[in-house]
Amino acid sequence: MADKVPGTEVIEEGALLTDGDQIVTVGRRPDVLSHSALARSDREVDEAVDCAGGLLLPGLIDCHTHLVFGGDRSREFEQRLEGVSYQEISRQGGGIRSTVAATRESSEQELRSSASGRVSRMCANGVTTLEVKSGYGLTLKDEEKMLSVARSLSERLPVSIHTTFLGAHAIPEEFHEKNDDYIQLVCEEMLPSVAKQQLADSVDAFCENIAFTNQQVRQVFEKARELSLPVRLHADQLTNSGGAALAAEFGALSADHLEYTDEVGVKALARSGTVAVLLPGAFYFLKEKQCPPVALLREHQVPMALATDCNPGSSPVDSLLLMLNMGCVMFGLTPREAVAGVTVHAAKALGLSDRGALKPGSRADFAVFDVETLSHLCYPIGVEPARMVVQAGCLTGPPHKAL
Ligand code: NIG
Ligand code: FE
Repeated sequence: MADKVPGTEVIEEGALLTDGDQIVTVGRRPDVLSHSALARSDREVDEAVDCAGGLLLPGLIDCHTHLVFGGDRSREFEQRLEGVSYQEISRQGGGIRSTVAATRESSEQELRSSASGRVSRMCANGVTTLEVKSGYGLTLKDEEKMLSVARSLSERLPVSIHTTFLGAHAIPEEFHEKNDDYIQLVCEEMLPSVAKQQLADSVDAFCENIAFTNQQVRQVFEKARELSLPVRLHADQLTNSGGAALAAEFGALSADHLEYTDEVGVKALARSGTVAVLLPGAFYFLKEKQCPPVALLREHQVPMALATDCNPGSSPVDSLLLMLNMGCVMFGLTPREAVAGVTVHAAKALGLSDRGALKPGSRADFAVFDVETLSHLCYPIGVEPARMVVQAGCLTGPPHKAL
């Protein structure tokens, strides 16, 4: 049932007790105040914070972003407004490849500086964990540069970063019509090096007629398995290429986009426990017509996450709260499903069991929003209601102050 999403029960008059970077207990206020950890004579509450009727949620998790990149794609935006399609721009050598050129030219410092701006805005709006993919370098040196920058973001900003190696994002110019040779480079040189340096927490690929075939993705996934790295997949975004089933076959943490996934793919995801990550920003920006199969995903109880897909080409957005609204309005999610999509299900998509829900032993990552209900969080567009953000037990907000 759409409105019974495990992990999204709302507690009225609730309270939360934390100790260091962990949650001790959560429940109704009188129960929390009488908790044994407080009743013990040697323990007192160091600090009590009145959330004044706000909505306290687990820290939000953006489980699919490409937020480290050089340049922008405003010229292609204009081309698209003139009627040239995303695929056509890609076939002409633009699209992902134009961001690859700009990213290769950028120093680590430049990439870190532009990415930090995006991450700061996300943090101020309640995000405490996010995933960042490579995929705009496409040489070993440039892919590692992107992953190092992504890793370094958590040193300066109050956020946990999960990194994903996306070497199989596009065929670089220098490998034109030599796709198999490029996949060999990804498998034989890039993946082992990235794994050895522990630069990536998972491996992704773009399975599509403008990118890589199922057979090529399979090679990447087999190598990832050999290196004990979990996988995820950009699947069935523009055509049904059997991407969801392929992701499921490899026990992927997530299959992402899924606009063209059919029931066979949905059933495969259900069997493998793979999370369906829905990306309404890209759907909107590319003016897609076909929605992901939300009713089927619901029927087969596939957990659905929502993410920004923050990138310069198909989803130039860093507001996860806007994705809540778009997920409801465009994909038909209930507000409860949408909020589960950026908390409990987003954590599952990253393979993280210590966050995404407010429960004893979980990380003390949470945010208080100036709204009354889950619905109020999803319904307005463009407001920023985060009043307080706590990451690993430390107050990192109020928002809009320098982080
Ligand atoms: O998730 N689909 C592939 N990758 C990105 C787009 C990247 C780009 O256009 O720069 C996506 O939509
Ligand atoms: Fe993406």
